Amino acid sequence: MSESSLPTSESSTGKKSGIFIVIEGIDGTGKSTQARRLGEWFVSQGREVVLSREPTDGPWGTKLRESAATGRLAPEDELEYFLNDRRQHVDETISPALAAGKVVILDRYYFSTMAYQGARGFDPAEIRRLNEEFAPLPDLLLILDLDVDTAHQRIGHRGDSANEFEKKESLERCREIFLSLKDEPFARVVDSNGSLDEVAGRIRQIVGQVWQVQLA
Ligand code: TYD
Repeated sequence: MSESSLPTSESSTGKKSGIFIVIEGIDGTGKSTQARRLGEWFVSQGREVVLSREPTDGPWGTKLRESAATGRLAPEDELEYFLNDRRQHVDETISPALAAGKVVILDRYYFSTMAYQGARGFDPAEIRRLNEEFAPLPDLLLILDLDVDTAHQRIGHRGDSANEFEKKESLERCREIFLSLKDEPFARVVDSNGSLDEVAGRIRQIVGQVWQVQLA
């Protein structure tokens, strides 16, 4: 991809245009590493990058992370906390960064709520509707896809305990919900088998294609 094909943060009208990329997938697909590497690549292209994740380190996100260790919240409370966390994230981090023309890369967003709280019994379409009332659509959603057994082994190798969030059966359902988004115009499925370099290469290629098409 040539450098000139990357959108600049200033359009011809002088309006700042950020780039909003979301990385999703079940636990063990390598989201965090790929988000970081993609961020580094955008920086090397001269862009300002905001790398963030959900649940956040804010008050709601902290409660959610704690609940993974101390006992999972009731389904309704859990959903509400994720929505509260996201509202704050959008207001305080995502929207201001996009308005300032930055590249925002998220490790998880509301597609995770569709998948994980969907797997817990809520209707994914209804979760989507609730989120899209306040959460901006990404320009690009990268769905890192890996079969549950391989993802599970990777988590094991990483030394994480299989906590309440990471039960295999519900991960199958999560994967299914993520893949149900594959035909959305902004979504791309990334085969996450192989080395980190291979997966990073696939992501880079997609980013190139998407923005070349947009600029054409
Ligand atoms: P994760 O990104 O795996 O964080 P860490 O690597 O620190 O464990 O996120 C923690 C869990 O939160 C993960 O299992 C998925 C879950 N989750 C939801 O259930 N709903 C959501 O909306 C989000 C953003 C995450």
